[in-house]
Amino acid sequence: MSNQAHLPWLADQLAEWEQGQLRRRRRVFSPLPDGWCLVDGQRVRNFAGNDYLALAHHPQVMAAAQAATTESGTGAQGSALVCGRTPWHQRLEETLAHFEAGEAAILFPTGMAANIGTLAALIGPDDVIFCDRFNHASLVDGCRLSGAAFRVYRHQELDRLRDQLSKSANYRRRWIVTDTVFSMDGDLAPLTKLCDLAEQYDAHLMVDEAHATGVWGATGRGGCEHLGVEDRVAVKVGTLSKALGSLGGFVAGSVELIEVLWNSARTQMFSTALPPGVCAAAAQSVTILQTEPERLPQLHRLCTLFRSALAERGIVPLENSCGPIVPIVVGTPDRAVDLAARLEKRGYLVGAIRPPTVPTGTSRLRISLSLAHSAEDLLHLADAIAEEFSVRCCDPP
Ligand SMILES: Cc1ncc(COP(=O)(O)O)c(C=O)c1O
Repeated sequence: MSNQAHLPWLADQLAEWEQGQLRRRRRVFSPLPDGWCLVDGQRVRNFAGNDYLALAHHPQVMAAAQAATTESGTGAQGSALVCGRTPWHQRLEETLAHFEAGEAAILFPTGMAANIGTLAALIGPDDVIFCDRFNHASLVDGCRLSGAAFRVYRHQELDRLRDQLSKSANYRRRWIVTDTVFSMDGDLAPLTKLCDLAEQYDAHLMVDEAHATGVWGATGRGGCEHLGVEDRVAVKVGTLSKALGSLGGFVAGSVELIEVLWNSARTQMFSTALPPGVCAAAAQSVTILQTEPERLPQLHRLCTLFRSALAERGIVPLENSCGPIVPIVVGTPDRAVDLAARLEKRGYLVGAIRPPTVPTGTSRLRISLSLAHSAEDLLHLADAIAEEFSVRCCDPP
């Protein structure tokens, strides 16, 4: 029984979500090494996380976190500009700047904070932003917070974007903002064409490499490196929380860009800095990525194997998806939840993604692949998915 005043409409809201299978359930999830996890006590293969390179349990990464924690304690104690920027932070900034071939880098408490803080710091009410409809929530929220005019174009519809850009000459600055890998669709943004449009209409491109860092590009720098457009992109945001197995967001770039963010990005100025152990872990992950470049092609070989195995069983992932995010659209929320529950009973944890995360009618299973999975795991999962689709007497999507 709460000791606070009652807000009577909350029960109605929860009931409405419940009825549409849209209410989110909290579960206890214990990640284990080698791609396993415990979910409410049941040991299952984890196909729902974003630990693409299997670094979150890497012995060297864990040892780095432990050593930094032993030396500097569990928390940073303050924001970076007050007293929270330890040698571990400085080392990680330098490591990221070097990795990204930038002059400097700045850290944020999360990738979400990096996107929101960077957008709100660089863009103002006299500007206009063009945003892909499927951009991550942190980009959308940052765009809104900036106070700029906000134009959304349908996913990957560049004719619409061109049309919007052609009517934007009156704004002080024009910004195109996009994920490089769309987190729920697993497809790559058409970065070369976006750069062409940005240059044609005197706009600046800001990209979020959250699901691309450590996954795409010859050295793992992401989608811009993969498509050869790094020198045409004005601002690149990355996260440490996915392929790098840690936590936090970052921007790497010119000294001027990073100095401006140190002085004006409120999500880092007014928030406690990352814990030292987290910084040490992320720096070690970057080092592993640089010294073990074979990890990337290995991951992509697994992705190709799984996609072929699905195709052989008549299951078609979302068009244009590529790499380790494999979305299978199933339609309604209850179908997604039911299929995910059936797979979980068979020992596979996969995401059941529903509105508002994805548009109505496109609820999906989201399977994410990792170097922690073996080829055998992937074939067994493909079998299980195909069997569950047939058990439910539904055509595969
Ligand atoms: C595309 C994208 N950008 C940013 C974020 C936020 O990153 P973080 O989880 O590090 O806050 C996410 C997280 O899921 C994401 O998918």
